[in-house]
Amino acid sequence: MAEREWITASAEETTELGRRLASSFRAPLLVLLTGDLGAGKTTLAKGIVSGLGAAREEDVTSPTFTLVHVFHNHQTVYHVDLYRITNFHDLETLGLEDLFDRPAILLVEWAEKFTIRADWPVIRIHLEHAGEDQRRIHLEGAAEEIVSQG
Ligand SMILES: Nc1ncnc2c1ncn2[C@@H]1O[C@H](COP(=O)(O)OP(=O)(O)OP(=O)(O)O)[C@@H](O)[C@H]1O
Ligand SMILES: [Mg+2]
Repeated sequence: MAEREWITASAEETTELGRRLASSFRAPLLVLLTGDLGAGKTTLAKGIVSGLGAAREEDVTSPTFTLVHVFHNHQTVYHVDLYRITNFHDLETLGLEDLFDRPAILLVEWAEKFTIRADWPVIRIHLEHAGEDQRRIHLEGAAEEIVSQG
């Protein structure tokens, strides 16, 4: 298991980090994003989705109400937000298992609520407030080439 940590000083820096990380992402991949409200999960996801060439940065918005956004490029990207999920029954009714039918890149905000098991490679990214506009971003994952990006 490889690990890395960055401190970013602005939303733009976090988006840029997402873009750099995305350059080594290959489907199938499960990216679990955790961190408090406003920690920067959606901001990082913007960079990842745009870095994958699946959407423009401004078209990547928070899926808090729709729960799942889908983007297609040469690989499929799902952006899921489980903030509003309060129990296992809610999660089950979403039918997220279907997202694993084909190789994709699956980004999950509030991933501590994601209890579905999958045998895809996993990257865990935890974001923390570190004063004003600073964020500490900690990544761990099995694939060395991904962790060494950025
Ligand atoms: N270094 C930084 N990295 C990321 N966002 C930052 C940074 N500094 C300031 N911000 C601001 O913090 C906010 C982060 O919001 P964002 O929606 O990305 O968080 P989130 O973790 O997805 O929150 P939520 O739990 O509500 O989904 C944005 O308003 C962004 O402009
Ligand atoms: Mg968010």
